Amino acid sequence: MQTLTVDLGERAYPIHIGPGLLNQAALVLPHLKQKRAVIVTNTTVGPLYLNRLSHTLSGAGVQVESVVLPDGEAYKNWETLNTIFDALLTRRAERKTTLIALGGGVIGDLTGFAAACYQRGMPFIQVPTTLLAQVDSSVGGKTGINHPLGKNMIGAFYQPQLVLADIDTLATLPDRELSAGLAEVIKYGLIRDLPFLEWLEANMDKLMARDTEALTYAIYRSCRNKAEVVAADELESGQRALLNLGHTFGHAIETGMGYGVWLHGEGVSAGTMLAADLSRRLGLISQADVERIAVLFRRAGLPVVAPDLGHDAYMDFMGVDKKVEAGRIRFVLLRKLGEAYVSGDYDPEALRATLTETVGAS
Ligand code: NAD
Ligand code: GLY
Repeated sequence: MQTLTVDLGERAYPIHIGPGLLNQAALVLPHLKQKRAVIVTNTTVGPLYLNRLSHTLSGAGVQVESVVLPDGEAYKNWETLNTIFDALLTRRAERKTTLIALGGGVIGDLTGFAAACYQRGMPFIQVPTTLLAQVDSSVGGKTGINHPLGKNMIGAFYQPQLVLADIDTLATLPDRELSAGLAEVIKYGLIRDLPFLEWLEANMDKLMARDTEALTYAIYRSCRNKAEVVAADELESGQRALLNLGHTFGHAIETGMGYGVWLHGEGVSAGTMLAADLSRRLGLISQADVERIAVLFRRAGLPVVAPDLGHDAYMDFMGVDKKVEAGRIRFVLLRKLGEAYVSGDYDPEALRATLTETVGAS
């Protein structure tokens, strides 16, 4: 097992990464404020891993209850959030009861937001079971839900007590979801870690073959990058926004196509290609750089052509992005491979060209 710390002073917490962690109560017990936990999961992950985690905790004397939600991005909404509140109130969950998110990023974001709101804040633990959640969404305390008009628009920064990334759970992950997670892994290389990008180019075939050593290293290195960024800028007043490379376009794709049609990681991949194209049109990176990025995404089984939602629809969806300032959409751009920055200072004609000439069929 490898352990990293998200260094946030009195709210610092560990990320444990390794096999067999769902069986290790000793990793969880020090983080409980009372011997009671409610596990939130969904209809896909529940049948696979809920019994194992419940058994581990109840074997250590913890009173364990569960809430099983419907599966899918389309359920990351108010109604599902209320289901969690209903369950917590019906069972008289207390402020010191711990909420445990067992699942991918949808479960993690919903559960974290529920924990932030219930009785104005109860402790929560992330047990991510997708690659995407293990490398990104379980770390850093962004929680929330979607709105029909915009992705992740309602939410809170609320840090977990612990992240437990059991890599054994990835054995049951569908190939398409593994690829989606790799989009966020590649992101770290592109925005701030060129040696990792080069490592990914050398090892993508191993990752796609689910080589345990390669996957563990990619998760560890991704979490290290994320933990450093979050520790430096928890509330996204500066560099944390770089973690949104491709997301402004990607969120528009997810919202425009209907939540769940394109997976989040697929939106990030195609969205990053639009961000790379815009960076090229602005004279920042070369066509060869753009091609190099596309090759890596393709090798990861990811789409590199964004759907043609229409220029105006893209602009509408991106107009509610959280990086918008004084009505101006700001993008994460690539200064070079391994270095990114956020800017609202770009030629609108370059953006128009990206949104009309670089997209494919919707
Ligand atoms: P997801 O939560 O929908 O999980 C993907 C699918 O895999 C689901 O059907 C799920 O039930 C299933 N699944 C999960 N674990 C499994 C396992 N071990 N075996 C088999 N099936 C399994 O999607 P995701 O890609 O994990 O997360 C995407 C969400 O995360 C989006 O809503 C996105 O906005 C959010 N996100 C949040 C942050 C953040 O910082 N909070 C960062 C990135 C993404
Ligand atoms: N996934 C982007 C962030 O956590 O800031």
